[in-house]
Amino acid sequence: MKAIVVKPGSKGVEVRDVNEKEVQNFGRVKVRIIENGICGTDREIVQGKMTSARAPQGRDWLVLGHEALGVVEEPFGEFKVNDVVMPVNRRGCGKCNNCLMGRADHCETGEFVEAGISDMDGFMREYYYDDPKYLVKVPKGIEDIAILAQPLSDLEKSVNEIIKVQERVYWTCNDGTFSCRRALVIGSGPIGILVSMLLRSHSFQVIVANRREPTEIEDQIFQEIGVEYFNSAKGYTELKGRFDVIFNASTAPPTVIEDIIPFLNYNGVLGLFGFPPSGEMKLSFQEIQRLSLKGVAILGLANGQKPHFEEAMRHLSQWKITWPKTTNKLITRTVHVDEAPKVLSFKEENEIKVKIRW
Ligand code: BGC
Ligand code: ZN
Ligand code: ZN
Repeated sequence: MKAIVVKPGSKGVEVRDVNEKEVQNFGRVKVRIIENGICGTDREIVQGKMTSARAPQGRDWLVLGHEALGVVEEPFGEFKVNDVVMPVNRRGCGKCNNCLMGRADHCETGEFVEAGISDMDGFMREYYYDDPKYLVKVPKGIEDIAILAQPLSDLEKSVNEIIKVQERVYWTCNDGTFSCRRALVIGSGPIGILVSMLLRSHSFQVIVANRREPTEIEDQIFQEIGVEYFNSAKGYTELKGRFDVIFNASTAPPTVIEDIIPFLNYNGVLGLFGFPPSGEMKLSFQEIQRLSLKGVAILGLANGQKPHFEEAMRHLSQWKITWPKTTNKLITRTVHVDEAPKVLSFKEENEIKVKIRW
């Protein structure tokens, strides 16, 4: 079968034939891949810059891909022929309690594996076999945007966790929701847009920042979902007020963290999600002390698991109805597999999400 293959640590990507026996499979449900999404992580791997990229044991190449939509071809367990499914991309270490309870996002040994990223073959191939435990059913009617459920799952987990951590203080507003809470989202890429949609769904006031003017598509999206845009090209000094949540959804240089920390409100949360491939930042003792006196929580946020994929599916179904213009704009391009190396190597202007179709 054809697969999209990389050599972790070196630059490059190719579509080539692989033998079914030489690639990893994970269970008895045969899934034929319909399409894959690509994200910044894939591109970093293709650039040879992703430090956590590793091939499965015993070889130097890896099947890429952690965003996948597929259709069941051989049934098993609750999965029937023609069910549209999506795989959970991180798999547990098999040892720690969190992994054993289906929460590999909080693995305690660090020995988890990630499809198409570290120690596990990914889903950019014609078909593979999986365990029902790691498959999520895609509800009818959202097949066109369902690929977004993978990145959205990371964000469902992140926003849930922010809200959970804030149970430490009185945080809801006088209407019982988070409508008086202000969130600043750094970055207006697919992650910035999806997390803004999610925060709006939880009633937060949202400002999205990026170091340029918004594109026309972004303008239309932010208008529909009710988000304000801030151009941070000249820094953040013009930004008004304090924020209860600051969410880094960008791969901007780490100094952006230094710049935005003063904007955190008392009892605020700094959500660390996006990271640049490299760089440095400094946090002085005084700044750490100030954060501590303000009761700020700094939360490391990575990866979503099956419950978060399920929540993502529900939100995508809802958003198709409430924000139809936006959901129609999120997939900016669909290409055939043969063009995959090209789209994996270059990011187009105005791109939000690119899909590879099998
Ligand atoms: C994926 C996450 C994964 C992370 C780190 C992201 O692109 O969406 O699920 O945990 O990369 O490898
Ligand atoms: Zn990703
Ligand atoms: Zn674990």
